Amino acid sequence: MKKWNNVEFNIQNVGQTVELCGWVSKKRNLGGLVFIDLRDRSGIIQLVVRPENSSYELASSLKTESVIQVTGDIVERESKNTKIPTGEIEVIVTALILKSMAVDLPFEISDDTTALEDTRLKYRYLDLRRPTLKENLMVRSKLMNVIRNFFYEESFIEVETPILCKSTPEGARDYLVPSRVNHGKFYALPQSPQIFKQLLMIGGMEKYYQIAKCFRDEDLRADRQPEFTQVDVEMSFVEEEDVLSMTEQLLFRVFKEMKGIELELPLQRMRYDDAIRDYGSDKPDLRIDMKIQSLNQIFQNTEFAVFKNVLSTTSGEIGCVVAKNCADQYSRKEIDKLTDFVKTYRASGLAWLKYTEGDFSGSIRKVVSESELEHLKQQLNVEENDLILIVADQYRITKTALGELRLKLARDMNLIDKSLYKLLWVVDFPSFEYSEEEERFVACHHPFTAPKDEDVDKLLTDKANCYSKAYDIVINGYEAGGGSIRIHQADVQAKMFEALGFTLEQAKEKFGFFLEAFQYGTPPHGGLALGLDRLTMLLVGTENIRDVIAFPKTASASCLMSECPNIVDQRQLEELNIQLVEKG
Ligand code: AMO
Repeated sequence: MKKWNNVEFNIQNVGQTVELCGWVSKKRNLGGLVFIDLRDRSGIIQLVVRPENSSYELASSLKTESVIQVTGDIVERESKNTKIPTGEIEVIVTALILKSMAVDLPFEISDDTTALEDTRLKYRYLDLRRPTLKENLMVRSKLMNVIRNFFYEESFIEVETPILCKSTPEGARDYLVPSRVNHGKFYALPQSPQIFKQLLMIGGMEKYYQIAKCFRDEDLRADRQPEFTQVDVEMSFVEEEDVLSMTEQLLFRVFKEMKGIELELPLQRMRYDDAIRDYGSDKPDLRIDMKIQSLNQIFQNTEFAVFKNVLSTTSGEIGCVVAKNCADQYSRKEIDKLTDFVKTYRASGLAWLKYTEGDFSGSIRKVVSESELEHLKQQLNVEENDLILIVADQYRITKTALGELRLKLARDMNLIDKSLYKLLWVVDFPSFEYSEEEERFVACHHPFTAPKDEDVDKLLTDKANCYSKAYDIVINGYEAGGGSIRIHQADVQAKMFEALGFTLEQAKEKFGFFLEAFQYGTPPHGGLALGLDRLTMLLVGTENIRDVIAFPKTASASCLMSECPNIVDQRQLEELNIQLVEKG
């Protein structure tokens, strides 16, 4: 076994003989000496091979990324390198063994690599040699350790739940696995262990957690992978407050041990409706000050037709964000780009005003009245060089478009302090949201989420005004986790299924076993799941989820390295009784 790590050694070890193993990160011949940067997981140490050494020829012929083992003596360096921990010393090699010669690499192993991501994904094992990726995986490993220790100390038990499951409609599309012994039948990979963890509560486990793999066949984004990892938690005999406070303790520990940051507890809480009103999002990034403001009052009697029309509809909303001291940074052309941007969020347009040299100018300067401008100035506390960006549309469209615009402005103007962590709970989610696509109400979280006690009676009669005992933990604009108190009464669960449009037969067929379990004594319970990948992203400061997963998939859910998904043998298909048919 490898005895030592490179970075264990420093100036204190001068005179010591060491045996080291690793990769040839760099090699150069200088003044008849061969210098090698030897890299192992811990870092780099410099080796020197002198001409009189019997390994000199071999050292001269080494290709980068070859694996070697050396014995040598630690000496103080003449020209020191302050950038690395071993920079004051070097190892004078006395013996060198080549363990494996590398051929030419498809790209250079360096954090400054210009190789395309696709190439790096194809040779992921080489990319993992880059310091940043290695560090990220080490952070992830430490994070899992901190989490496991916390739950162990808090008397949670870790229980593994099945990967081959029953397909149940939970939100995203399932990955299906055909059964060989039951022709025509399929397993589904779990979107989360949701049903199992609730059954564990019925099974009397009381406090469960699991670092669980989840699978969702959904459109991928920078913070989404088709297979990802949750820190999944469930507790019996708890109310919302208990789950929030347990999670806060866990996050306190995580931030303290991983970043040396002491979070201020309890964390801020924001009602879902307020988050949408002020930030246009259920995952507001509170590192940015800019809030969305409503201008409905100011324009309630306006003569400007566009605003007037919007306000005459039931859910019309005129909203704005103020980019402070930015007017001179946005030319008309730049504002046109912002207009195109809000249109991608279905807003019909973007009105704007600049305040410079004590006066307004802009697209609506001539169509709104002086008194409206004066009110605007007061309400928004407008100052010199401010830029006001206004969307007038249906409430939800106005809010979403301005919410996204707020983020874009902050990114473009570099307004985000990347060293900050802003955590908050978003609470009081609606039970249902209206799906335009399906033209019906669907579950906002999942069908097992308990409604607020006062809203149980509204489940079938007033869906738009039902709120739930659901909560999300939001960090720097990311949904880092979410959960809820669950329904634990069979009759309320049946009512929820009905509200979601399942017939009794459908509910029985999909969830019969689950509903039956509720009849045999179910403790009140609740929990949540944190996205481990997202939490790691936040801790290492990357916006790309692939940076924190050893072997990630591409945006089209494939692995460029192993080339999966892939076609399978005809024989395998026959065993499964599956015939592939070209769709016409
Ligand atoms: P939810 O669907 O909100 O809840 O998932 C919990 C957390 O998992 C992370 N996450 C993802 N991370 C990466 N890629 C994805 N495709 C992905 N999807 C979700 C997010 C999210 O907040 N069973 C419930 C939890 C509960 O109610 O206890 C659930 O799965 O960080």
